[in-house]
Amino acid sequence: MEELIKKDLVTSGKAKSLYKTSNEDLYILHYRNDTSAFDGKKIESLEGKGAINNKFNAFVMKHLEENGVSTHFESQISDTESVVKKLEMTPIECVVRNIAAGSICKRLGVQEGLELDPPTFEFFYKDDDLGDPMINDYHIESFGWATSDQVEEMKNLTFKVNEILKELFAGGGMILVDYKLEFGDYKGKLLLGDEFTPDGCRVWDAETKEKLDKDRFRQDLGDVVESYHIIANKLGII
Ligand code: TMP
Ligand code: ASP
Repeated sequence: MEELIKKDLVTSGKAKSLYKTSNEDLYILHYRNDTSAFDGKKIESLEGKGAINNKFNAFVMKHLEENGVSTHFESQISDTESVVKKLEMTPIECVVRNIAAGSICKRLGVQEGLELDPPTFEFFYKDDDLGDPMINDYHIESFGWATSDQVEEMKNLTFKVNEILKELFAGGGMILVDYKLEFGDYKGKLLLGDEFTPDGCRVWDAETKEKLDKDRFRQDLGDVVESYHIIANKLGII
């Protein structure tokens, strides 16, 4: 393969930056140490977070590909960078919850830890200024954020990811509590984009129920990057 040259910055998000490359179909995704929560209201730089998330994401994306989920991931090229396909992103966040935690507890007045059987699904509109409001299928179609076919596909793929990853985390003695996925179009096909890291999911130790994900940062529990390493260790990533 020809050498890929990193070019101009396309956009910088709260935790990652996206760069053009010498191949117009490919981007380079740079995982930074910046860690944000509450729609960017709480931000800190955590040493080593970019590197562990880059590695973590590469492992999960490869595992999903091996199990039939098409993703934008191409390859990891450095400690903190990966090559991805250039997607036309939908401004939608797809959340599946196996256990109640986070916003659903406040919104519906349920106890953290309540098992959701069957797992539940929520769409959010990706807009920090609006606080990522929860939306439904009708909003997505009325505002033209995605087609009805894409809505169905996003739901199906997000639940398929749940079957694959629940098992993966269970194998490492952990519970996948919930997670957020984002999708985008690549030449007419909907692919999983963005990232799958402890920044965008909740993972508990199955025995102790200890929180190992970004809730450690949100709730000032400490040892954030160390916990990401613990999850990676349990999964055999490092
Ligand atoms: P929530 O409890 O805040 O609604 O989040 C549910 C899960 O989705 C949790 O693992 C965090 C993740 N998530 C993000 O990473 N970014 C977001 O903008 C949202 C809404 C959720
Ligand atoms: N990722 C979202 C944000 O930073 C939600 C969160 O992590 O609290 O706004």
